[in-house]
Amino acid sequence: MSKDKHEQSALFPNEDVATLAQIIHTIAKGDFSATDKLYELPGQAGISPEVANLAESFGMLLVRMEAGDFHIERAAEVEERLKELNELKNEHLAIAAHDLRNPLSAIRNMAQMLVEMELTEKTKEEFLHSIYRVSNQMLTLVNNLLDVAVIESGNLELTLKQGNLSALAAERAEIIKPVALKKGLAVNTSLGVVPDSIFDADRLGQVIDNLLSNAVKFSQPETTVLISSRLVDINFEITVADQGPGIPESELDNLFAKFEKLSVQPTAGERGAGLGLSIVMDVVAAHGGRVDVQSTVGKGTAFTITLPVDASA
Ligand SMILES: Nc1ncnc2c1ncn2[C@@H]1O[C@H](COP(=O)(O)OP(=O)(O)OP(=O)(O)O)[C@@H](O)[C@H]1O
Ligand SMILES: [Mg+2]
Repeated sequence: MSKDKHEQSALFPNEDVATLAQIIHTIAKGDFSATDKLYELPGQAGISPEVANLAESFGMLLVRMEAGDFHIERAAEVEERLKELNELKNEHLAIAAHDLRNPLSAIRNMAQMLVEMELTEKTKEEFLHSIYRVSNQMLTLVNNLLDVAVIESGNLELTLKQGNLSALAAERAEIIKPVALKKGLAVNTSLGVVPDSIFDADRLGQVIDNLLSNAVKFSQPETTVLISSRLVDINFEITVADQGPGIPESELDNLFAKFEKLSVQPTAGERGAGLGLSIVMDVVAAHGGRVDVQSTVGKGTAFTITLPVDASA
């Protein structure tokens, strides 16, 4: 740095001041990439000592403010997120309580009539069947709620054993058949010969049950549900396809969200809390797999789960 320039800058620091002011202005607007220029400024050739000093002080101030701001911002962010999560929890709790209250009231009313009124044998039998059916619905909901709680707390433990996915699919298809038949739907299978693999049979059974029961629940009578399985390269694929109403594309983003019921309604007054598909997604992900959906309004929906073939099987 020449003496002349130094003296000139000291006497006329306007240019340096303007540069510093520009940098500060840029940072103040939120462009923190300009801080580099600020830290470089004091070492710049020809800079006036006063402006260099000012830039240094401002830099130090910025470092301290940044550290402080960061904490305040983080704390505010965390607080906001906690508030959101708490609101979501309350919302879910309200939905769950509501979904449990209705069937519970029905059971209580029927039980009260059974106890207090003179009923014909036929009515008594009908009530007992209803109580059995409705209490099963409640049990399913409570089990789903417990599953969601386990999954959300990160405590989903898989009991991995050797088994055959096509055999599992065949078993679950047999279980849903009577339910489908009662509704006038057929359940067909097209299960390929696949090698044994390692998986949690109860959990994947639950996944297949959820997909099959959705297919039956949302389809009209006289349609067919097809469950198929095959080996594709290094993956197993299990597909549950229905000829139901299909899901509008605009709703697909919410399909796997918890407590999310879409515009498609059950066709025979069946119940649901909107938890099944979220459990499907999480259980399949825990197996290292994925779930894909293909749906055409008016034609039907196909859910495909893809699971890696476990080499250790
Ligand atoms: N095969 C399907 N065809 C058309 N719509 C479907 C199908 N499967 C799911 N849906 C839509 O997606 C929503 C979410 O499905 P999900 O299985 O998570 O909940 P649910 O069946 O309503 O309740 P739950 O599974 O808790 O008993 C359903 O309410 C329905 O609107
Ligand atoms: Mg469901």
